[in-house]
Amino acid sequence: MFINQDDQHSSASRELLILYATETGTAQETADRIARECRRVHFHCRVQSMDVYPPETLISEHLVIFVVSTTGWGAEPRAMTSLWNMLLRSDLPDDLFEDTDFCVFGLGDTAYEKFCWPAKKLSRRMQSLGGYEICSRGEGDEQHRLGVDGALDPWIECLLEVLIQLYPLPHEQHNIPAGRPPPRVSFSNLGSDTFPNPDPLDEDKKFHTASVKCNRRITAEDWFQDVRHFEFSFEDDIKCYCNSDPSAAASEVNSFLATMGWTNVADKFFRLECEKFDEFVSIDGADELYDYCQRVKRATWEVLSEFRSVRIPREYVFDLFPLLRPREFSIASSIEVSSCRNASISVAIVRYRTKLKIHRKGVCTSYLSGLKSGDTLRIGLRKGFISLPTGHQWYTTLYFGCRSAHKDQHYHSEWEFHAEKRNLRYHDVKRTYMQDLMKDAQYIWTMLGSSNKMPTAVREVVRGAAEMFGGRSNAEAVEYVAAMEREERLTEECWN
Ligand SMILES: Cc1cc2nc3c(=O)[nH]c(=O)nc-3n(C[C@H](O)[C@H](O)[C@H](O)COP(=O)(O)OP(=O)(O)OC[C@H]3O[C@@H](n4cnc5c(N)ncnc54)[C@H](O)[C@@H]3O)c2cc1C
Ligand SMILES: Cc1cc2nc3c(=O)[nH]c(=O)nc-3n(C[C@H](O)[C@H](O)[C@H](O)COP(=O)(O)O)c2cc1C
Repeated sequence: MFINQDDQHSSASRELLILYATETGTAQETADRIARECRRVHFHCRVQSMDVYPPETLISEHLVIFVVSTTGWGAEPRAMTSLWNMLLRSDLPDDLFEDTDFCVFGLGDTAYEKFCWPAKKLSRRMQSLGGYEICSRGEGDEQHRLGVDGALDPWIECLLEVLIQLYPLPHEQHNIPAGRPPPRVSFSNLGSDTFPNPDPLDEDKKFHTASVKCNRRITAEDWFQDVRHFEFSFEDDIKCYCNSDPSAAASEVNSFLATMGWTNVADKFFRLECEKFDEFVSIDGADELYDYCQRVKRATWEVLSEFRSVRIPREYVFDLFPLLRPREFSIASSIEVSSCRNASISVAIVRYRTKLKIHRKGVCTSYLSGLKSGDTLRIGLRKGFISLPTGHQWYTTLYFGCRSAHKDQHYHSEWEFHAEKRNLRYHDVKRTYMQDLMKDAQYIWTMLGSSNKMPTAVREVVRGAAEMFGGRSNAEAVEYVAAMEREERLTEECWN
C-alpha cells in the first residue's frame, strides 16, 4: 500500500475511471465488481472498455484503475492494443502522468509461463511516465481455488482503504460504509410502444446477419462428445473472424421470472438512469461461498430457488446478474478457399454433469446445436491472433491430436485429400493399439488433460528438437525457442 498523506484530495473530486481489456469477459465482470465496491466509498465510476476509450484523453484523468487480462502467451487483449501502442511511444515525456493516480488489477493463469504480463508491463510503463501507483498491482489467478476472487477480494479491501485515505469520506466518516447500497440504475416505465431499438446488436458494426447452411455432427454417433461442423453464409462480405448471440432456455427463464414474481413486468420496456450509490454489501465467507456456488457450479436460478424467501428488487438486476457474454469460436475455413460471404466453425457442444450430478448444457452451444438450415442469426467477427507464414519456403505440416482415430479425428478425409495433393504434410493420431496407449498414457494426459498444459508441452518438444538435432546446448535451445517467439515464428492459440 502506498499512501502519501500530503496528497489527499478533496472529497468533491470523487471521479474514477475504470478501463478494462478483456477477451472472454472476466475483466469486464471484474471491472464492474470494482466499480460496485468503489461506489460504497462514494466514488462516481465510469467503466469503459479500452478500445472505446480515446487514448489521448488519458492524460486528463486524475484517477484510473486498469483491469486487464492476458491472452495468447502473455499478449495483451486486443482491446488494449491501441492504448498500449500510444503508451509505448518513445517521444512521451517522463512526467506525462504526474497528475494521474492509478492502479492495476491483472487477470491471468499461473499455468501459463507469462502470468499477467500485460498488467505487469502496464503498471511499469505508467510509473515510468510519472503516474502514481496508489496500491500494489493485484493479480487474479484462474488456478486459485477461489478463481479470480482469491486475489480480487483482498485487493479491493486494500484499494478502498487507500481511496479513503487519499480521498477522505464526506461527513467525518472513517469506515467503509456497510449495508445495502442503492442500486446502480433506476427504472422508469416507458410503456410498450416507445422502445426505440430492441436489439443493440443491430447497431454494432461487428455483427452481421448470417444464415445456417450446414449443422452436421463430425464425431461418431456413439462417441461421448458431440462436435458439430457449422457453415454460415453472410449477407455481406466478411474479412475477419467471430462470436454469437444465444439465449438461455425459455423454460428456465420463465421459471426464474415466476420465482422472482417478475412474470407480469418482464416484457415491459424501461429506461435506465445511472445513479450513484453509497455503499455495497461485501461478500463474506469466501470459502463457504465457493463450496456452495463455484465448486458445484450452482446456477443463479438454482440458488434463488433454494432461498425461496429471497426477492431481488428489480432495480438490482444490473448489479447482481452478469450480462450474457459473447462466446468465441475459431473460424474453421478460409475466405480464400470459400468466399467472402461464407464461414465455418467446428463446435464442441458443451454438456456435462456438475458435482451435484445435475446435467448442464452450454448456453451458446445448445442454441447452436438446435439451429436448422435456413435459420438466421447475428454473428460478430474479429481478427484472430494467428496468421500462417507466407512465401514459398514454408511447407505446412499439421500434427493432429485426438483421442480416437475412428471417433473424433475431425476432418480426417479433408486432411488426407490435401496431403495427397502434396500441399500439406499431415501427421495424424497414432493407431490406438493397446501398447501405444500404455506407452503414451503420460503424454496423452499431458497433452489432452488440459489445454493449459499443451503450450508448455509443445514448446518443450521444439526445445528438445533444437537440442537433439540442432546441436544446441540446453541454454541455447531455451534461447532459440524464446527468439522464435520474439520473431513471431512461434505462436499459439489454445482454448478449453
Ligand atoms: C479464443 C477462443 C476460441 C475458441 N474456439 C472454439 C472453437 O473453435 N470450437 C469450440 O467448440 N470451442 C471454442 N472455444 C471455447 C468456447 O468458446 C466455449 O466452450 C464456450 O464457453 C461455449 O459456450 P456455451 O455457452 O455453450 O458454454 P457455457 O454455458 O459458457 O459453459 C461453458 C462452461 O461450462 C463449464 N464446463 C464445460 N464442460 C465442463 C465439464 N466437463 N465439467 C465441468 N464444467 C464444465 C466450464 O465452466 C465452461 O467454462 C473457444 C474459446 C476461445 C476463448
Ligand atoms: C487463449 C488464452 C491464452 C491465455 N494466455 C495466458 C497467458 O499467457 N498468461 C496468463 O497469465 N494467462 C493466460 N490466459 C488466462 C486468462 O488471462 C485468464 O483466464 C483471464 O481470467 C481471462 O480474462 P478475460 O475473460 O477478461 O479475457 C489465457 C487464456 C486464454 C483463453
